[in-house]
Amino acid sequence: MEFKNKVVLITGAASGIGKAAAIAFVKEGAKVLVSDRNSNAGEATVTEITSQGGTAAFLQADVAVFAEVEQLVQQTVDRYGKIDIAINNAGIAGHSAKTADYPIDDFEKVMQVNTAGVFYGMKAQLPQMVKQGKGVIINTASIAGLKGLPNSIAYTASKHAVVGMTKTTAMEYGKQNIRVNAICPVFTVTPLFNPDTIEKMAPGIPEKLKANVPMKRFAEVQEQVDAMLWLASDKASFVTGVAFPVDGGLTA
Ligand SMILES: NC(=O)c1ccc[n+]([C@@H]2O[C@H](COP(=O)([O-])OP(=O)(O)OC[C@H]3O[C@@H](n4cnc5c(N)ncnc54)[C@H](O)[C@@H]3O)[C@@H](O)[C@H]2O)c1
Repeated sequence: MEFKNKVVLITGAASGIGKAAAIAFVKEGAKVLVSDRNSNAGEATVTEITSQGGTAAFLQADVAVFAEVEQLVQQTVDRYGKIDIAINNAGIAGHSAKTADYPIDDFEKVMQVNTAGVFYGMKAQLPQMVKQGKGVIINTASIAGLKGLPNSIAYTASKHAVVGMTKTTAMEYGKQNIRVNAICPVFTVTPLFNPDTIEKMAPGIPEKLKANVPMKRFAEVQEQVDAMLWLASDKASFVTGVAFPVDGGLTA
């Protein structure tokens, strides 16, 4: 019950890493605001949590639209009175193409969701955390925020930006007792990264990707969530401005 009575806001919480994080924080006693642009899956996540006795609510928001993100933060505070932990996790992968062939509209879309979405989240969450005199923000970046990833110009640009914004914001708000960190997952099996689908489209690629990871496997969703739980906890009370790889050694 490490997070008893803590209020946790998670974006992109209807699926994959965000959904698993919502369930894990509730298990540790938190009240979780599950947010996503997909309301059916978001409501289903909340039903799964509340049917097991947990406290959670769903709020639909598109992180790429600042007015919706502002409203999300306001509604979280109206409902639960505060935001102890905000996890800006919503993200999309974008096309797979070399830089010269990469579609401009897709580049702009990925940047708007992955980069502006995290900026909008922090911009809306920080005034509330400053008012509270404390807070924790965790942004979901990627190993693509630390190194290049061929055929993913938009995704790598967007995630490098998340790492930069995380470091800058951590420096700005440290004295106000607000910690800001990022996790940098490697390939983690979720709807966003589905090795079976990739194998069908490009036979042999999942095995090649796995071979590049020193631990020779993909990550489990729970391994990403465990890093979030630690970064959000008081055990990480002096950790801020970190881009924390959970990557089986890939970026080593
Ligand atoms: N799965 C991986 O291998 C991997 C690796 C590195 C980083 N990541 C990052 O982890 C995060 C979560 O990814 P996942 O693998 O769980 O993917 P996922 O597709 O399972 O979940 C992402 C969720 O974000 C939501 N979402 C997308 N765009 C949104 C928007 N504009 N507004 C609100 N919600 C939106 C989706 O509806 C979905 O529920 C992403 O930021 C992703 O880039 C994933």
